[in-house]
Amino acid sequence: MDFLDLAKKRYSVRGYKPDPVEDGKLQKVLEAACLAPTPTNSQPFQLIVIHTAGNQDKLLEVYNRPWFVQGPLIICCVGMHNEAWIRRDGRNYLDVAVAIAFDHLIMAATDIGLGTCWVGQFEKDPARKFLGLPKDAEPIVFTPLGYIADEPKEKKRKPVSELVRYEKW
Ligand SMILES: Cc1cc2nc3c(=O)[nH]c(=O)nc-3n(C[C@H](O)[C@H](O)[C@H](O)COP(=O)(O)O)c2cc1C
Repeated sequence: MDFLDLAKKRYSVRGYKPDPVEDGKLQKVLEAACLAPTPTNSQPFQLIVIHTAGNQDKLLEVYNRPWFVQGPLIICCVGMHNEAWIRRDGRNYLDVAVAIAFDHLIMAATDIGLGTCWVGQFEKDPARKFLGLPKDAEPIVFTPLGYIADEPKEKKRKPVSELVRYEKW
């Protein structure tokens, strides 16, 4: 699919079918994330694939929205602080690396007809506990992964002209 069409097609899916995601499709979206560029090629993240079945109650403590647990899978991208690239002035690029990898995953899922929704507004301590994370690992973003059961809303965005400048501020 043309990339602009793919970008237009992706939206935050907040309704999922319980149908399973084929393992081949899951592997494709995971591979897409692992192909993402990262500072110094450090790949400072881990992807955790969670089956919702049997875990709904605990997952709702992490993020309390019914649609979060409607699909068969949830993926969490965990940033590894001990592997993060930090610029000489102290600027930490861990979130940037995680965001690029996760966006690759999200776009790959869209491309093969799967729904996703970035979830950053989750409860960190229940997430850490549920995932059994070590000290250096920070849960940064989640998404459900599954077949879509809702409809996209109209995409509202600022016009390109409001967000782009040429040459200088
Ligand atoms: C980093 C990030 C965190 C987000 N966290 C949440 C969230 O916790 N819950 C939610 O429903 N949507 C969340 N969203 C989705 C945004 O609200 C959504 O992308 C935005 O409103 C644009 O809508 P669209 O994705 O349908 O185009 C998040 C998006 C990003 C990029």
